[in-house]
Amino acid sequence: MKTTKKFYQQSWTNRLMTLVNQSIITPAQATILKQQANNQLLGDQQIENYLTDYHLPQGVACHYLIDGQQYLAPMVTEEPSVIAASSHGAGLVAQAGGFKTKIGLHILWGQIILEQVTNPQQLKQQLLMRKAQLLALADQAHPSLKKRGGGARLLRVRSLGDQLLSIDLGIDTQAAMGANMVNSMLEAVAKYLRQQLGRQVLMSILSNLADECLATATCRLPIELLTKGSFSGSQTAKKIALAAHVAQIDSYRAATHNKGIMNGVDAVTIAMGNDWRAIESAAHAYAARDGQYRGLSRWNLSTDQQFLQGELTLPLPVGFVGGSIKIVPLAQLNQQLAQIRSVGDLEKLLVCVGLAQNLAALLALVTEGIQRGHMQLQLHSTALAAGAEITEIAEVVQQLQAQGKTDLTSAQLILQKIRKTGDHQ
Ligand code: MEV
Repeated sequence: MKTTKKFYQQSWTNRLMTLVNQSIITPAQATILKQQANNQLLGDQQIENYLTDYHLPQGVACHYLIDGQQYLAPMVTEEPSVIAASSHGAGLVAQAGGFKTKIGLHILWGQIILEQVTNPQQLKQQLLMRKAQLLALADQAHPSLKKRGGGARLLRVRSLGDQLLSIDLGIDTQAAMGANMVNSMLEAVAKYLRQQLGRQVLMSILSNLADECLATATCRLPIELLTKGSFSGSQTAKKIALAAHVAQIDSYRAATHNKGIMNGVDAVTIAMGNDWRAIESAAHAYAARDGQYRGLSRWNLSTDQQFLQGELTLPLPVGFVGGSIKIVPLAQLNQQLAQIRSVGDLEKLLVCVGLAQNLAALLALVTEGIQRGHMQLQLHSTALAAGAEITEIAEVVQQLQAQGKTDLTSAQLILQKIRKTGDHQ
């Protein structure tokens, strides 16, 4: 793109004009970008080279009963079946008394990586002896965090080989996700290591493997609740437990199993104005913590074979304040909608959503298969993609079903026919 002023220095309208003038988009497309822009002032503050807002649908999953309290789960997702599955899974668990949760400390790890370390053992001793001093240095870089009851808590030193050493600081970030706080605390300590101890610092950055910030959800369903079609509750429960076992021993299945969990977790994380990439990377790194990538949840039958028991633990370094939460009005509204009042509540909700989503997916997979439930919603999306107006969707879906077709071309042909017939009438 050739411009006299750098693209980011141009005003929003000029940026759109530049794209039109250089024939990258048409004037009509520029109008679409303008119309879709929610709040140009906010967008310009949030990111560089802002053009428009990319809209995703938001809905809400119901029936979450967690530690005796009811919650709604606001979800932002483009995948048609996610919210229906979430409510279905949560509803089954609610009938069985709901989820129980356990929330750990809200501690994030940050790393200072040193290079050219020729005697890692000696340096490790030296650093551990200065633990209190290093933690205090980190706290001084963010005194307000300490005032709020948080701050630097843990320090460990790991030799990575190849003359590399990782100094890990565990920081209690309280109600915030805290990426910026952690990074500035790390940089303060790194400066000391460089200037006072003459060490070579390669980099300082938080780690997304937040394995000190864990949330666990459990549930226990009487097997009768799992009766489905021709399958008895006992058969279904055994199949779910076996399916979860497959995700423990096979990484190909584990990836899909965990994708299903993250379908719900991501959708709520986005609705809550949080960084869902951080939660994704944390989950997947945690899933591979013993060297093999495994399913994040476990399902098994109670010893008397009368209950299906599920458990999910996720690292959830989320925030209830800070980041984009305070500038995105919907994020605050969604906290209210969900009835959550703290970062702990958010962690509880997220981990339960993950487990409910997983239950619904496994239940469908081991009984009627995923396509049947998905199909109606999927056909709906296909009709939309074929260009159907809202008033035409039902008819396109009906005809696709009647013809046993699911593809876009068939939907387009059906739509053409409907419109032709309409013209002739
Ligand atoms: C689809 O988005 C998610 C599932 O594939 C999850 C799973 O297989 O467990 C249905």
